[in-house]
Amino acid sequence: MKLAVSGKGGVGKTTVAALLASELAARGFRVTAIDADPNPTLAALLGFPAPPPASLLDLRDEIEERVGSPGGLIRLNPRVDDLVERVAVTHGGIQLIVAGAISRGGAGCACPQNVLLRRLLDYVVLERDEVVVVDLEAGLEHLGRRSAQAADALLVVVDASRASLETAARISRLAAEIGVPRTLAVANKVRGPEEESWIASGLHDGELVAAIPYSDALARAERTGERAAGADAAVQGAAARLVDALQTRCERRVRV
Ligand SMILES: Nc1ncnc2c1ncn2[C@@H]1O[C@H](COP(=O)(O)OP(=O)(O)O)[C@@H](O)[C@H]1O
Ligand SMILES: [Mg+2]
Repeated sequence: MKLAVSGKGGVGKTTVAALLASELAARGFRVTAIDADPNPTLAALLGFPAPPPASLLDLRDEIEERVGSPGGLIRLNPRVDDLVERVAVTHGGIQLIVAGAISRGGAGCACPQNVLLRRLLDYVVLERDEVVVVDLEAGLEHLGRRSAQAADALLVVVDASRASLETAARISRLAAEIGVPRTLAVANKVRGPEEESWIASGLHDGELVAAIPYSDALARAERTGERAAGADAAVQGAAARLVDALQTRCERRVRV
């Protein structure tokens, strides 16, 4: 099962990615989590010990060697598997790959870092067979067409704000354009049934597959640097229902 998580900044993408990865690992799946957000925080929410793991971009010199340098010739299909093995770290049954702070180029920017991230996503989505959870930033530019089509679902996280629903609508349109087979919405920080139905009725596309409650314990865990999973029983229950829903929606049976 290959999943990507996107949504407006601050809605809880990284939290949802951490909850998902932890729940899947607890069910016995081999899980690889990828932090593709320029401000990487997934390691902390997964409970990885400090200091933060090295990122792919820390291998800057090798990247330039393989991809080329800005302004020069860029190779679009550099080898990445060995680099990935060097930066991957494992904790609590989850293998984590931190992509690093990628500068946001304009559309179609072929800077070496973007090429490498795209190649990394192609590699883990197309060539590896474990469960993959990618924490993306609000855009989808790093998801190439091939990995977009090979993903099982894009999860768009929303909260009870108009802005997050507007971002979700934009992301869903982009996802359809690049061929992501299904976009599913996850409501987060939900304070009661009224908010949940407001969110459900404001979604333009994408079925609402789970609602994660607002939790002071979860917010506190983020502040103290503890893992998200296990911080709150109600959140845990919602994460379990989310994984159940994903397993039903993504028919492809997952190897354990
Ligand atoms: N269900 C929730 N209840 C309470 N706080 C939450 C919840 N989900 C996320 N948060 C808090 O919201 C903030 C942003 O979450 P984060 O996952 O980093 O968002 P994003 O990755 O979308 O920017 C963090 O402080 C996090 O602890
Ligand atoms: Mg984040």
